[in-house]
Amino acid sequence: MLSLLRYYGSRGIVLERGYMQYLWDTSGNRYLDANTGHGVAFLGHSNPHIVDAIAKQFKLLASLGLSFRSRLEESVLESLSRIRPGKLDSVLFLNTGAEAVEAALKLAWAYTGRKKIVAFRNSFHGRTLGALSVTWNPRYRKGFPVLSDVVFAPYNSDAEMLGNYIDHDTAAVIVEPVQGEGGVIPGSPRFLGDVSRLAGEAGALLIVDEIQSGFGRTGRTWSYMKSLAEPDIVLVGKSIGGGYPVSLVFTREDIASSLKGGRHGSTFAGNLPAMAAVEAAVRLFLEEDIPSKTRVAGRELIGQLRRRLGGNSAVRDLRGEGLMIGVELRYRPEPVLKCLQEESRVLALKAGATVVRFLPPYMITGGDIEQAASGVESCVSREYSR
Ligand SMILES: Cc1ncc(COP(=O)(O)O)c(C=O)c1O
Repeated sequence: MLSLLRYYGSRGIVLERGYMQYLWDTSGNRYLDANTGHGVAFLGHSNPHIVDAIAKQFKLLASLGLSFRSRLEESVLESLSRIRPGKLDSVLFLNTGAEAVEAALKLAWAYTGRKKIVAFRNSFHGRTLGALSVTWNPRYRKGFPVLSDVVFAPYNSDAEMLGNYIDHDTAAVIVEPVQGEGGVIPGSPRFLGDVSRLAGEAGALLIVDEIQSGFGRTGRTWSYMKSLAEPDIVLVGKSIGGGYPVSLVFTREDIASSLKGGRHGSTFAGNLPAMAAVEAAVRLFLEEDIPSKTRVAGRELIGQLRRRLGGNSAVRDLRGEGLMIGVELRYRPEPVLKCLQEESRVLALKAGATVVRFLPPYMITGGDIEQAASGVESCVSREYSR
């Protein structure tokens, strides 16, 4: 028998069906999904808008490399231009978040002719070699030949501290506006503004990684918009494909043109079902005003968590933006995650060493929020309150 490699711990249930914010296991139990496959299913599972768009495109034409043009490309560009970050006028389609990070690093090296990259402590940017090199956690990096020209500055530090890291040798600074995997840590507007200013003064590019925090997840179209940051490159992934694997690199034409033909590519980059998925996702995003729905639901969820967990001695902090929320415990989060799954039928995920992270779809209802918040309350009490 062949075994399936995972490199992830097993959650011990077999899931067979999903619709919007819910998943069902093979015994028919329904779960509220605040895990969303590491934040992917923000538009819900099997969202009919996305499913129909992908199915229609698959029937029409699926496999076409970027050497050929398609009609779809015009309409997807038109949709994307309605939500594009700042003045960025060019977009590269890729497949995964890590691939987008790799492309951004290449663009920065080619554009500046410099090598050094400044990343941040607690950062997570993916697991391919370039992305791993700018990912902080030593557990992920140990034993692999990561790039040597990378330094990790303290996240949320002040301009004076940042000045010790960002200099005229720096090709790029890469930053998450809210650190996700590292522990759901929002970057302060002032910090993000300082990073942007210092990168600009040093002639380094600012790469903003919105792979987890972008596309409405934090209640803004792009999370960096809380600050005065002006990115040169913005990376998007996870929810932008409505469940279909796709990532995007937004940049400026002058930066994009520093890579000539053949210097970057990927077989599936810009495949038509991915473009159809993105077009449908953006249409839904605008029609539904997803950022404002996310803000309302996020406020309700964090409010309920505060009411129920404020003063609980097992809880160190509660924080987040929109529907990217973390409950930091004084202990390991795994027993709480297990209890949430088994007793409350809520799926969440871990962040950092001690954080229970909630990344639910934007359409969660008041009843769902109640289920999640009361579930954490009773699971934290059961596991850790003495
Ligand atoms: C901020 C951030 N960047 C990059 C990545 C890597 O994306 P992928 O797993 O699609 O390669 C992730 C994944 O969790 C992420 O959260």
